[in-house]
Amino acid sequence: MPNPSDPSPPAPAGAGAAPSAAAPRFAAMVQRLSAEIGAARSAPELANAKARALGKEGELTAEMKKLGALAPAERARFGRELNEAKQAIEQALREREAALARADLDARLAQEAIDVTLPGRGPGAGGLHPITLTIERIEAIFHSIGFDVADGPEIEEDFFNFTALNTPENHPARSMHDTFYVDAPDGKGGGLLLRTHTSPVQVRYARAHTPPIKVIAPGKTYRVDSDATHSPMFHQFEGLWIDEDVSFADLKSVYADFLRRFFERDDLDVRFRPSYFPFTEPSAEIDMRFADGPLAGRWLEVSGSGQVHPNVVRNFGLDPERYIGFAFGSGIERLAMLRYGIGDLRMFYENDLRFLQQFNR
Ligand code: PHE
Repeated sequence: MPNPSDPSPPAPAGAGAAPSAAAPRFAAMVQRLSAEIGAARSAPELANAKARALGKEGELTAEMKKLGALAPAERARFGRELNEAKQAIEQALREREAALARADLDARLAQEAIDVTLPGRGPGAGGLHPITLTIERIEAIFHSIGFDVADGPEIEEDFFNFTALNTPENHPARSMHDTFYVDAPDGKGGGLLLRTHTSPVQVRYARAHTPPIKVIAPGKTYRVDSDATHSPMFHQFEGLWIDEDVSFADLKSVYADFLRRFFERDDLDVRFRPSYFPFTEPSAEIDMRFADGPLAGRWLEVSGSGQVHPNVVRNFGLDPERYIGFAFGSGIERLAMLRYGIGDLRMFYENDLRFLQQFNR
């Protein structure tokens, strides 16, 4: 690309051009004026050069004024040669004008050019939340052993959250599940609440399907609780397996297997510690322990579980004499914290990008 700020002057007039040959009388003048025109670096400079040649006080104009005083024969020749000189000058002006316009265009194009190799300043791609990543991981593992994935409403009916789960009104276990109650539009309170666990999805799913029933149900749950390991909103995933011959041994192997796959390690102990839930009998807390690493040797509670209570099987619409199985409900934040080594559950919900971006690299 030619340097736009330095348009090269045209070849000097007279170098093989017609005027000098045809009008030797004005050849020197034409050459000088053309050189001046050719040297003009801007439109104003070109206008000045033009004025010096053809303006009111211009050199060619001065020659023109001599015409009247000449004898007729001389006047014709002089006039013709002067005319040729004028045409040569005009030609030089047109060329210089075009050259300056081209240079100007080149300069603008160079200035406005977009460097397509610069990295963009886009809004950023975003990524999945660590809890979402954890849920996807849990779903993939259970899916691979034949579990369906279901969900249910977060604003739940008292019946599904408690009553159908063998927890009638005034049952003392309800007090451990203090939650947010939602008023119906009439202001009277319609038996709605933010679900305190994912267990109501057991009832909803079992009523809509026939055995064998094999499902997990991850989702948000709510309780009046808030500290480094509790948040008023947290996530659980429920598991339910009901058939004619599902035993506690199946629960132990399914869950231990899940934990080993979730943490991608075999040096992991699992124990079932007797516990109580109204909707399972017998019931157990599931604890796990790593053999090494920073948490080595400490038992960590990860889930409630048990054999589904006959009353609950009945509420599924099934005959408890025929159908039996197990259920579990696990905290997702707890599993994610253990897997990623996160010390404070509240980090999940502070939306600090320095924290969140670590999960999407
Ligand atoms: N729903 C119980 C809880 O949130 C956990 C649980 C689920 C226990 C299923 C037994 C069976 O604490």
